[in-house]
Amino acid sequence: MKKPVALTTTFFATCTMLLTACGGANTNTNSVSNTSNQATTNATATTTTSSTIPIGIAVAQTSNVALLGQEQVAGAKIAEKYFNDKGGINGTPIKLVFQDTSGDEAGAINAFQSLINKDKVIGIVGPTLSQQAFSADPVAERAKVPVVGPSNTANKIPEIGEYVARVSAPVSVVAPNSVRAALKLNPAIKKVAVFYAQNDAFSKSETEIFQKTVKDQGLELVTVQKFQTSDTDFQSQATNAINLKPDLVIISGLAADGGNLVRQLRELGYQGLIVGGNGLNTSNILPVCKAFCDGVLIAQAYSPEHPGEINATFRKAYADQYKKEPPQFTAQAFAAVQVYVEALQALDKKNKVSQLALPQLRTELNKQLLTGKYNTPLGEIGFTPEGEVVQKDFYVAQIKMDKDGSQGKFTFLK
Ligand code: ALA
Repeated sequence: MKKPVALTTTFFATCTMLLTACGGANTNTNSVSNTSNQATTNATATTTTSSTIPIGIAVAQTSNVALLGQEQVAGAKIAEKYFNDKGGINGTPIKLVFQDTSGDEAGAINAFQSLINKDKVIGIVGPTLSQQAFSADPVAERAKVPVVGPSNTANKIPEIGEYVARVSAPVSVVAPNSVRAALKLNPAIKKVAVFYAQNDAFSKSETEIFQKTVKDQGLELVTVQKFQTSDTDFQSQATNAINLKPDLVIISGLAADGGNLVRQLRELGYQGLIVGGNGLNTSNILPVCKAFCDGVLIAQAYSPEHPGEINATFRKAYADQYKKEPPQFTAQAFAAVQVYVEALQALDKKNKVSQLALPQLRTELNKQLLTGKYNTPLGEIGFTPEGEVVQKDFYVAQIKMDKDGSQGKFTFLK
């Protein structure tokens, strides 16, 4: 079996290209067991009279999950510059404080603790994965610190607590769009094979929606194959599925595993359409599946074509720096920072935020952010009282690769 070696090489080549995405030390020093001490210390802390307002960004800057997280860092940084250039919070700039969560739950908990207790942020944008959110968000909830999830799309994220909201529309709203798009491209689809990462909360949640959509559309679910996000060899699951002659394959996983699974399905001869879920929604999968990525359909909660000044400015800022269209995870991270900025601006007009003690500021900010409407690059968004995002516009993109597989892009379907 030559594949594992070849695939490992590909993936390390990807890591090398991405520089920081797959290696590097986690700079967090707090241990998980510090939570209660730090939370106690924090209860008496007040806002410093510093000249900036600190907002925490806890996303994956290392590990495979950085394939998504690095896009979030880019969006947060563009937002910081955009809003500070416009005067910040009625004259006071924001300052983003980055803590790397790496790809697991412990890393996310450590990052949240540092931001809450050491960096004394007013709120947190993060973490990258729903799997991490179910562990780390309760830390913020107990400390009464607002969390805005930039990319957590599993069912029941806002229900984690009063201080937890998200700008990332849930799997139930986003995922069915890509199955409907596949049926439009090929109305003859009848048999569907579904794959999901069983060690990942988001993937488990998303596959439920995909499987329900398959049944609702009157299609036949011929097999459900499971894998781990850490897997690199998918030959047995792929072979099992291909033997059942599916016309559509649907994958819920993350970027590295998802990209490798697409590649191996094609190498083993699968020729039908492939739908990838939200964890594959990054051009960082392109160096993994190369020419084999061609044709993969992925639902989108953002379009670079969205009209309006804020998206035009965001799109240009991203394109100037990265020479391509901004991806969904970048736009969502921008929107998450925007929610804090505009909620702080509104709060500051009622109650000078520099005069509020930190615990009071966090609580007032949490109430304020849930009531606002935000004209973001994603379109206008707001929140339900529970913190679920309310968003109107969704899209489906299809990956188009050059023949040699060295370049590709997401093209939006009409
Ligand atoms: N949407 C993915 C998650 O929620 C990244 O974990």
